[in-house]
Amino acid sequence: MRAYRFDRFGLEHLRQETLEPPVPGPGEVLLDVQAISLNFRDLLVIKGLYNPRLELPAIPLSDGAGDIVAIGDGVDRVRVGDRVMSHFVSGWIDGPFHTRYAGTTLGLPRAGLAAEQVTLPAEAVVPLPVGYDFTQAATLPIAALTAWSALVTKGSVQPGQTVLTLGTGGVSIFALQLAKALGATVIITSSSAEKLARARELGADYTINYRQTPEWDKAVLEITGNAGVDVTVETVGAATLNRSLAAMRGGGTVALLGALAGLEGKINVGLILMKELLVAGILTGSRVAFEALREFVGEHSLRPVIDRRFPFDGLPAALRYMESGRHFGKIVVERQ
Ligand SMILES: NC(=O)c1ccc[n+]([C@@H]2O[C@H](COP(=O)([O-])OP(=O)(O)OC[C@H]3O[C@@H](n4cnc5c(N)ncnc54)[C@H](OP(=O)(O)O)[C@@H]3O)[C@@H](O)[C@H]2O)c1
Repeated sequence: MRAYRFDRFGLEHLRQETLEPPVPGPGEVLLDVQAISLNFRDLLVIKGLYNPRLELPAIPLSDGAGDIVAIGDGVDRVRVGDRVMSHFVSGWIDGPFHTRYAGTTLGLPRAGLAAEQVTLPAEAVVPLPVGYDFTQAATLPIAALTAWSALVTKGSVQPGQTVLTLGTGGVSIFALQLAKALGATVIITSSSAEKLARARELGADYTINYRQTPEWDKAVLEITGNAGVDVTVETVGAATLNRSLAAMRGGGTVALLGALAGLEGKINVGLILMKELLVAGILTGSRVAFEALREFVGEHSLRPVIDRRFPFDGLPAALRYMESGRHFGKIVVERQ
């Protein structure tokens, strides 16, 4: 089978190889991967910024969809022929997060999905949503579930509330689509006027260009009549957190999930306590949350925004395209 591995950190070391297909062990399934989608995390993993001690060579990527073509001993949850998506935090099935689940994520420390066939725990797959093809389904496991966890699990967004989401990458565009489907008013930021126009076409109520308006938190307060937003989907992290805190209403929730601009920064604790804010860390979500998201996108006929599709041979080019930041929504690599 074809697979991508890197034996040293850096995109330039990512190579396509021919490997023996893996064999599913007890409790595992063999997935014939039809489509994979890219996440910002993949770049961090391949560059050695996520875990510099990662054992190499490693197969990257974490999101995929395909058919189950074999099952290991003791598997009765799924069958050969099922069309499924991977579940990223493979050990987190339900209930609150536990730190031991962090060691079960796909594409580090578990093997990734940049291969024609991969083994996955049978517990860590979810059927495709109704009406979805493999390419669409491959976009959901990380970006859509993370947006769902921010808005629903942590944010408890209600119709009529206001959501702020930062940038127009994979997570943020899902946050826009899901928040609109939940009946919220959405404010979205971007560095690009063209991307903001596309966000308006998707239903964004207010848009702010964070390059032209560096004090975008003030613009958010102005839009909301000084009230602030109910939930912020914080995709950037340390560099923007203080402005996100400033843009909140009292008692609101900042769903903190981003690492686009580093993990450390000076935080204005005063804003958190004086406004009684909830700052909620997000690690994607549980399988049960993923199943709820799957139902929701089916019921609301919500379809992912796929910016570009690349062939399997084009994975390095797809990752470079993601690195350029030119995309809007998701980038997918299709098996051909
Ligand atoms: N914790 C979790 O479970 C989890 C899950 C998924 C993703 N994440 C994290 O969430 C972030 C987004 O991931 P992704 O896959 O959606 O990335 P992505 O598709 O690469 O999106 C990146 C986009 O973020 C925007 N951006 C960059 N700097 C910004 C800034 N200073 N202010 C506002 N927007 C900015 C840009 O949008 P414009 O081009 O419109 O300016 C850029 O295109 C990453 O840090 C990723 O690691 C975390």
